[in-house]
Amino acid sequence: MSAPFHVPENALLRAKLSRLRDRRTDNATFRRTLAEIGAILTTEALRDLPETLCGIATPVAALDAPVLAAPEPCLVAVLRAGLGLLDGARLIMPDAPVGHLGLVRDEHTLTASEYVVRLPRDLGLRGALVLDPMLATGGSAIQAVARVKQAGATSVRFACVVAAPEGVEAFRAAHPDVPVTSAALDQRLNERGYIVPGLGDAGDRCFGTE
Ligand code: PRP
Ligand code: URA
Repeated sequence: MSAPFHVPENALLRAKLSRLRDRRTDNATFRRTLAEIGAILTTEALRDLPETLCGIATPVAALDAPVLAAPEPCLVAVLRAGLGLLDGARLIMPDAPVGHLGLVRDEHTLTASEYVVRLPRDLGLRGALVLDPMLATGGSAIQAVARVKQAGATSVRFACVVAAPEGVEAFRAAHPDVPVTSAALDQRLNERGYIVPGLGDAGDRCFGTE
């Protein structure tokens, strides 16, 4: 059985995604909103992390309080657009080590090629949450997760903002063990490999390079 593909039931997330989709949204607002979505998606994707109890004292009484079981997962941003999500993810997980994977999709073949890999050295001891706003053909996400698994991550999760059915199917075939959290599942890919209705080119809109 495949790990779940989950679209959180979250009105705040939906409203922020609508702001990203709107072509009138300027680059600064796009980047800020992508970070906000990164915080929400990280919370949703990691909501069932293992916990343990830690003895603490409040100003009023002692108690065994739930804390995350160590070591917490690292965050891995798929460049460029994953950097936008990472800004918000780090607000939620400020101590998590961060990995960077540079992947770029060829406009014609739609095949992703890798140009940089910087992953935490202790990945064999911890899980990873891989962040990339767009799951289109699925090629980039499939490669990114394969890299993270190859580096030894004990468990991998993937979070994106918009997914196309074609990409979800390819991803689940390649990595049936990896749960995916996405703010939306859109209709389809167009002839240029863009998600419909989507939000356009996430990297360009995030960094003002369109
Ligand atoms: C975009 C996006 C994903 C990829 C998705 O990156 O951020 O990484 O495309 O497409 P796929 O599912 O068909 O592989 P792009 O290659 O445009 O690079 P960028 O983030 O640097 O703009
Ligand atoms: N990459 C993007 O940035 N947007 C898409 O719609 C597809 C791939």
